[in-house]
Amino acid sequence: MRVAKILNLISALALFAFVGTATAADIAPAAATLTNGDCVKCHDAAPKAIAQAGGKHKTEVTCQDCHVGHPPKVKKPIPLCSQCHEGKPHYKLQGCLGCHSNPHTPKNIKFGNNITDPCLTCHTTQIELLRQFKSKHTALNCSFCHNVHGRIPDCTQCHKSHSADIVQKDCKVCHQAHKPTDVTYKSDTPSKMCAACHKKAYTLLVSSPAKHSKLACVYCHQNKHKTVPQCTQCHVKPHPAAIMAKFPKCGECHNIAHDLNRWSEPAAAPAAGKPAAKPAKPAKK
Ligand code: HEC
Ligand code: HEC
Ligand code: HEC
Ligand code: HEC
Ligand code: HEC
Ligand code: HEC
Ligand code: HEC
Ligand code: HEC
Ligand code: HEC
Ligand code: HEC
Ligand code: HEC
Ligand code: HEC
Repeated sequence: MRVAKILNLISALALFAFVGTATAADIAPAAATLTNGDCVKCHDAAPKAIAQAGGKHKTEVTCQDCHVGHPPKVKKPIPLCSQCHEGKPHYKLQGCLGCHSNPHTPKNIKFGNNITDPCLTCHTTQIELLRQFKSKHTALNCSFCHNVHGRIPDCTQCHKSHSADIVQKDCKVCHQAHKPTDVTYKSDTPSKMCAACHKKAYTLLVSSPAKHSKLACVYCHQNKHKTVPQCTQCHVKPHPAAIMAKFPKCGECHNIAHDLNRWSEPAAAPAAGKPAAKPAKPAKK
């Protein structure tokens, strides 16, 4: 490769010399100047890379803004990034070419899997969450998950789902990557998802004849995992004060919210003497 370049250079210089003698014998060869248009005659890779993905290194600067002079007169015409990039914390990082692996395609960025601090020169909210909500993700490097700049990994790349009812796009219903143990969810989260871990509660509730069976888990356990509601949040003064004074706990008669003891409650059967006062209209799903 190098030999070929040298041969090219020699023949190009020969060409300059030939043109020189052909036009005017008394013009000194020293007047021949190298222009940006000349580079492609001998160099393939750099002009091609810049043409394809040069970004602002294509539009805002030229080859010779960066490469001042040329071998053999200038031995190593390689610029320092700091010649042009100064004044931001990002420009104080070590090893620019470690991430911007090719200066001719400056926005093609690859990372090793052990990078965190350099990311923080531009992104700050994620580290704040990771530190505020300590989890096992806090100890991971940013690039352990984001190994190509801008790429968002699937959770299922590293984790198994809780059940067949939960797929990759559902993870964010309950989790955020930078605070994964702070489980929150919206009011439309299907009960099937909770059933992945709470099979007993799910089965008890959906097989109960009581009206609670029509309610979604998250209708009662709102927003944040492990929230447990008070019955009286929804049922204000369900019974006369005298009864409540005698039996202060709802559970003494209604057992737990998921079954309400309806199996022993004759009025639940529509065929019984007393007609069902309120037919079980489907409430929230
Ligand atoms: C006539 C052929 C020719 C032209 C035209 C030419 N180069 Fe070169 N260039 C070479 C050769 C051959 C070398 C290797 C020289 C050496 O290693 O001593 C080289 C080396 C270089 C290097 C140094 C590479 C290194 O590894 O240190 C840079 C940078 C470079 N050229 C940039 C340019 C730029 C920019 C242009 C256009 C303005 C250009 N060249 C035009 C033939 C050419
Ligand atoms: C923004 C500055 C910048 C611009 C613009 C730029 N280069 Fe470079 N170039 C560099 C740097 C820095 C290196 C050293 C890369 C390294 O060490 O890996 C380099 C390396 C080179 C090399 C030697 C390594 C190789 O890829 O063969 C050549 C030849 C070269 N450039 C040619 C060019 C040509 C031709 C152009 C214009 C089409 C150009 N460069 C535009 C900064 C630039
Ligand atoms: C001769 C000046 C010069 C040198 C040397 C130089 N750059 Fe640049 N670079 C520029 C200019 C001008 C821009 C466009 C303005 C800006 O974004 O600051 C730019 C833009 C960039 C961009 C953004 C590209 C885009 O398309 O948005 C990156 C990344 C970059 N430079 C990295 C580097 C790295 C890494 C080096 C060293 C290997 C380097 N530059 C060396 C002049 C230079
Ligand atoms: C850890 C990897 C990493 C290192 C090391 C690194 N950069 Fe960057 N750089 C990036 C990423 C990622 C971007 C954002 C690219 C984007 O906007 O898509 C970037 C963007 C840039 C930009 C364009 C945006 C801006 O802030 O102006 C320039 C210029 C730049 N880097 C120059 C440098 C220079 C100079 C160095 C060395 C002093 C350097 N970078 C070191 C990863 C790195
Ligand atoms: C020089 C500044 C800079 C550096 C350094 C940098 N980024 Fe970025 N990053 C950006 C910019 C600019 C964007 C695109 C705009 C946006 O979406 O915020 C971006 C986008 C992203 C995105 C995609 C955002 C989305 O909404 O899709 C991720 C993920 C990301 N960066 C992670 C990282 C990681 C991890 C690192 C360190 C390994 C890093 N960045 C280093 C500037 C930077
Ligand atoms: C690149 C791999 C990777 C990706 C992608 C990833 N994780 Fe993790 N996650 C880990 C590792 C490693 C641990 C620690 C495992 C251990 O030590 O047992 C972990 C732990 C966890 C934990 C337990 C935290 C604790 O402190 O107990 C949760 C919850 C979690 N991940 C959820 C997620 C979710 C949700 C996503 C997607 C938003 C995700 N992870 C994406 C690698 C990953
Ligand atoms: C365990 C894997 C993992 C780690 C570690 C991780 N991220 Fe993320 N990141 C993700 C996932 C997955 C997303 C997509 C949004 C989500 O699920 O919350 C994301 C989203 C992002 C975004 C897009 C905007 C946003 O906040 O949603 C940026 C920027 C980002 N991460 C930067 C970082 C930085 C910087 C670090 C290190 C301080 C980091 N990430 C650590 C997995 C991770
Ligand atoms: C319906 C809510 C919900 C959804 C959807 C969900 N998770 Fe979870 N996940 C949880 C809860 C709650 C915990 C905490 C259990 C505990 O406290 O031990 C958890 C814990 C985890 C853990 C820690 C280890 C473990 O199994 O206990 C990982 C890893 C995890 N989830 C990954 C995922 C992934 C990957 C997805 C998407 C495929 C996902 N989760 C979807 C609620 C959910
Ligand atoms: C990944 C498994 C997992 C998923 C999915 C999950 N949970 Fe849990 N949940 C747990 C674990 C583990 C506990 C703790 C059990 C214990 O302490 O005995 C728990 C505890 C609870 C508790 C009891 C809190 C207390 O103080 O007794 C409630 C209520 C609860 N979960 C509701 C839900 C709801 C609602 C959903 C769906 C939005 C859900 N869970 C999804 C694993 C999960
Ligand atoms: C988040 C609100 C909410 C909470 C908390 C709640 N319930 Fe209910 N409850 C309802 C709704 C809605 C109905 C159905 C009303 C209707 O359809 O007329 C209902 C119905 C009932 C019924 C009638 C059942 C039937 O089949 O006729 C009883 C009894 C009852 N609740 C007791 C309780 C007890 C006891 C608790 C606490 C252990 C409780 N509820 C907690 C919302 C709630
Ligand atoms: C002494 C036993 C007892 C206690 C304690 C008790 N209940 Fe009841 N509750 C009943 C009986 C019996 C019914 C009537 C069942 C029926 O007709 O379906 C009933 C019915 C209800 C109904 C349905 C009313 C309707 O109009 O359909 C609600 C709601 C209710 N109770 C909530 C509560 C709440 C909340 C508490 C605790 C604050 C509580 N109960 C405490 C025995 C009790
Ligand atoms: C009508 C409101 C309501 C609905 C709907 C509901 N819960 Fe509960 N849940 C409660 C209340 C209230 C408690 C506290 C125990 C009690 O007093 O009945 C509780 C307790 C729990 C507990 C802790 C005790 C235990 O049984 O392990 C878990 C876990 C739980 N619920 C999960 C769920 C899941 C999963 C669903 C959906 C399948 C669900 N709940 C639906 C109100 C409800």
